[in-house]
Amino acid sequence: MRFWAYRTLLLTTWTAMVIKPQVMAQLDPQKLAAIEEFLTETMACRNIPGLQIALVTSEEVLMAKGYGLSNIEKKTPMTERTVTSIQSISKGMLSTLVAAVLSDLNQSGLDFDTRLQAIMGEDFNTSDPLVTEYASLKDFLAMKSGCNFPEVLVESFQVMSPDEFTRNLKHYKCQWRFRTGMHYSTTGYLVVSKALEKLTGKSFDQLMKEYIFNPLGMTDSDIVSKATEIYGFSHAYTTGSDDISDVEVTPAFISQSGYMMGGAGVAFNANDMANQSGHMMGGAGVASNANDMAKYLQMHLNNGKNQDGQQIIDESNLRITKENWNVYKYKPYSLPRPTFPEGLVSGAYGFGWIKGYQKGYAMLHHPGNYAYYRTHVVIWPDLDLALFLHTNGRQFIDQIDATFANFIYILDVLNGDVPWLNTTTRCSFPEPWRTAVKALPESIPTDLDPALSLEKYVGYYGQPGYGCFQVTLINAVLEMTYGKTGEFELHATGNGHEFWRKGKGLQAWRWSKQDWYFAESPYPRTCEFFVDSGNVTGASCKFDFNYEGYEKINGEKPEIEALCSEYTTGIPSESRTPLPTPELLLPTWAIVVITVAVGLVVAAIFGCIIYRGRKMKRKEAKDTLPDSNAYLYGRQNTELSDAADDKNIVPMDYETAVGEINPGATVERHLDAMNDLNESTGDTDSAGGPRSTTVRVEYQPDANPSQL
Ligand SMILES: *[C@@H]1O[C@H](CO)[C@@H](O)[C@H](O)[C@H]1NC(C)=O
Ligand SMILES: *[C@@H]1O[C@H](CO)[C@@H](O)[C@H](O)[C@H]1NC(C)=O
Ligand SMILES: *[C@@H]1O[C@H](CO)[C@@H](O)[C@H](O)[C@H]1NC(C)=O
Ligand SMILES: *[C@@H]1O[C@H](CO)[C@@H](O)[C@H](O)[C@H]1NC(C)=O
Ligand SMILES: *[C@@H]1O[C@H](CO)[C@@H](O)[C@H](O)[C@H]1NC(C)=O
Repeated sequence: MRFWAYRTLLLTTWTAMVIKPQVMAQLDPQKLAAIEEFLTETMACRNIPGLQIALVTSEEVLMAKGYGLSNIEKKTPMTERTVTSIQSISKGMLSTLVAAVLSDLNQSGLDFDTRLQAIMGEDFNTSDPLVTEYASLKDFLAMKSGCNFPEVLVESFQVMSPDEFTRNLKHYKCQWRFRTGMHYSTTGYLVVSKALEKLTGKSFDQLMKEYIFNPLGMTDSDIVSKATEIYGFSHAYTTGSDDISDVEVTPAFISQSGYMMGGAGVAFNANDMANQSGHMMGGAGVASNANDMAKYLQMHLNNGKNQDGQQIIDESNLRITKENWNVYKYKPYSLPRPTFPEGLVSGAYGFGWIKGYQKGYAMLHHPGNYAYYRTHVVIWPDLDLALFLHTNGRQFIDQIDATFANFIYILDVLNGDVPWLNTTTRCSFPEPWRTAVKALPESIPTDLDPALSLEKYVGYYGQPGYGCFQVTLINAVLEMTYGKTGEFELHATGNGHEFWRKGKGLQAWRWSKQDWYFAESPYPRTCEFFVDSGNVTGASCKFDFNYEGYEKINGEKPEIEALCSEYTTGIPSESRTPLPTPELLLPTWAIVVITVAVGLVVAAIFGCIIYRGRKMKRKEAKDTLPDSNAYLYGRQNTELSDAADDKNIVPMDYETAVGEINPGATVERHLDAMNDLNESTGDTDSAGGPRSTTVRVEYQPDANPSQL
């Protein structure tokens, strides 16, 4: 322990001394003034409490600043060192970390195509035999595995730890065909983080420190559960006015106030974020600030070198993380002509980087969002320019719009162009070009009755891999609790056994304007109970993930608890009961010797078998699977791809391939293959996922991922 502490201390001190102070450049004062005015004006008109910005070239830091407040109650200013949760910007950091670790292991034959199972062994087991057998680091980093495992279990509900989650992977349905299209998945990045831990024997935070934070002198950055509050932590706000603490959240209120309500004046703080996102590791778990992000972005502009010119990340591996590995098609992240005058297109996905063009300039960018936190990074490599932006409230859509407005304006100004956005449109953007918000529903009826009396729904509901939720009756209202923070009220919709699921406490934002922004139907969050001869037997809830097919658990509390624990940990309760120790026939030393000898022989035989097996499987895979470099499976989208190698796109007979690996596997769910393909060209709703088509609605788990 001691030793490591000293080592870390030494390393930190060493890097702090070696890294040169950043060069603060003189940005043309007129341009700086214009940008600052624009930023502060958009904060004012969109009611944003605090904003942080880093603007850099490969050599110079043009801006690293904070504006407004990071904590309204304490009147703490937002500075360039205020730490915040950067959410999904962690993803690009994880892929950078993978690049670094791989180049460190460059004699080992490992690369981005290394299969997860080769690294994690039996710890990697999914519901799709093809994914289990063949999925590589690349498949998960490019979000083409076809699995977007549920997020809320490890993140906001904290039902389980990352290890328990990984153990439970096989229970989560992979909804799409392997290597087809893009299906946003934060938990896929969690799995890659676990794989890195397994590969190196080091923890994720240790790895981040060793490979990224220390060599870059990012002294304020850490995983969010260890985030320093020395320089303050950006709190994220939600309510309309600072003193409103208890307002009924109705669409009418939302319409009038124009605010996304999170109920009870919720202000997310460091502790909440540690709890909400810390578990997501490389998916969303990093905390940083403008000062540190400046260093990180400069490293990217310098192709892996730090400010001392030291190559800290292997250049060729780093380049791989930014190639076009998938199609990116979510509409809110494109502002195409002729609707928008300037043209901003996001068309491809790297590893944690959205790739596109703004005014014809190549750009790599990524949002990082959770509840009321917004962050965004943009790199314009050909302009030698990069930007980090963070805002901390209060309204979801306004913050996103403000972010886009800000970086559109900044590029115009730095480029010396006549700015597209003027004093009016900086506040109205995306209007008049696109309607800002969908029409909201009129009201939520609260006086409807379900088909059975309320107490009939009370009880425990569980599912292997998902754990249990409990329904109780409090003051004539049904309440649902799930994990540590999942608190909901259930209100009858008047349709049989269907209920609206309204978030409370830290989940209040799950019943908010954001829902309507993303949702297809006015009331997307519902739970439906199943009833047999007047008895409730199970439940399914829509949204967030496929909580389908929960069974009602009857019995005594200890039994229920044991079963729920098994569902959560992935460890059957019987394997936890200690077995009686058998009497020894031989002395202990003899048993040890024999065991070791037998173990070695078995391991050697097994090693041979596995090695040969893998070799064979790999060979086989060439004929049956789409090449992992293919932009998209099949015939489509090659024209967009500079990564795809046409001759390598081998049409896959999926059913045959599944059959070869696992003859018993069911392939029925893949019969709607045409939907899969249509979806990749079809209308999409949000950053979250495809607009639902007929069959897909059934198991669309993640129309609204909380982390983008
Ligand atoms: C790979 O390893 C060799 C020797 O271990 C080293 O000299 C070389 O620089 C490494 N290459 C990269 C790209 O890291
Ligand atoms: C995956 O899990 C299933 C069910 O528990 C098991 O039968 C199978 O052997 C596992 N596969 C691997 C590769 O561990
Ligand atoms: C997380 O939540 C628990 C309560 O569930 C709280 O005690 C703890 O302080 C929180 N923060 C962290 C960093 O775990
Ligand atoms: C701002 O731009 C909009 C849209 O291009 C235009 O209609 C409006 O007249 C402009 N306003 C000002 C004050 O320039
Ligand atoms: C419904 O529940 C009652 C009371 O627990 C039980 O006696 C009855 O057999 C149940 N009916 C069915 C169809 O399971």
